[in-house]
Amino acid sequence: MQLSRPYMSAREQNTTKSRALAEPQSALPPGLFVKYQSLIYREAGIWLGTHKEALLSGRLAKRLRLLGIESMAEYYKLVTHPDQQHERSVLIDCITTNETHFFRESRHFDFLVSDVIPKLQQQASSGTRSKQIRVWSAGCSSGEEPYSLAMMLQSFLPAEDGWDVEILGTDISTRVLERAREGLYPIAKSQEIPTKYLREFMLRGQGESAALMKVDAKLQKHVRFARLNLHADHYPISGEFDLIFCRNVLIYFDQSSKEKVVAGLLRHLSPAGLLFVGHAENLNGMAHDLKSIVPTIYTRASNVVPDKKSRAHE
Ligand SMILES: C[S@@+](CC[C@H](N)C(=O)[O-])C[C@H]1O[C@@H](n2cnc3c(N)ncnc32)[C@H](O)[C@@H]1O
Repeated sequence: MQLSRPYMSAREQNTTKSRALAEPQSALPPGLFVKYQSLIYREAGIWLGTHKEALLSGRLAKRLRLLGIESMAEYYKLVTHPDQQHERSVLIDCITTNETHFFRESRHFDFLVSDVIPKLQQQASSGTRSKQIRVWSAGCSSGEEPYSLAMMLQSFLPAEDGWDVEILGTDISTRVLERAREGLYPIAKSQEIPTKYLREFMLRGQGESAALMKVDAKLQKHVRFARLNLHADHYPISGEFDLIFCRNVLIYFDQSSKEKVVAGLLRHLSPAGLLFVGHAENLNGMAHDLKSIVPTIYTRASNVVPDKKSRAHE
């Protein structure tokens, strides 16, 4: 790919739609949808409502064609065979919704600038914390979220000042993780990125690659990707994170999967860490030791200092 620097904006381009889906096919035989529903739930914790039947057969149609399989019943036999773990991952890949944007839900990024980053800087200068920051984007899709976090944190907490920012992006879908690792995006997505970050962290394609932009290696080296099923009993990662973003993921789970996933995330949240969820999600009514500090941003309840008003009533 031919790349140029610095980045030149391309506002005239329209935002590309997320991947086109295959046309839905006819309904599944009675009872078969329920079997797929439980299989997907067991594998990924994703609960497909009955209204998703056409979506399921539509999305699997291409896979069936590729394998030369004629019916959804035959595919079910294949995908439930004990040796077919890979095919079960492909099935999950087919049904996940991966829509995402750079700097999605900007209020969270504003909060990082107004609250989180100044606090980190102040704590580091008073010696009450190190300059190492660990951030986890859980359900990162094709990488826009972890790269947005990396751009912002690298700008405010640069390595030249001794900061060591590590970002982990995980997802259950290997298809989106490949795209995330590549760091190659349609140039129309440049509209989602503030100009100062575009210029600093994105390279614009030239010639045949003129419709693309690529994340600069100097940013990419701070972001690592791994496949991780949030519905699993244990996560193959170690240590704790200062910030966990799990946004627009819990929405696909039922209450019991949500509880399980939040418990899993909390095992990796540092004592003073923050958990960010999507704006359409909330963790109210969960059995966990969590308090929201502003809507959609949570910390451990033990980490919240009561304000003066509530202390007056103690
Ligand atoms: C709509 S995207 C959200 C991406 C990003 N967090 C954002 O807010 O823009 C949801 C992502 O969650 C992932 N996902 C769904 N179920 C999952 C599971 N059980 N474990 C890990 N990731 C999962 C999907 O593959 C998808 O990429």
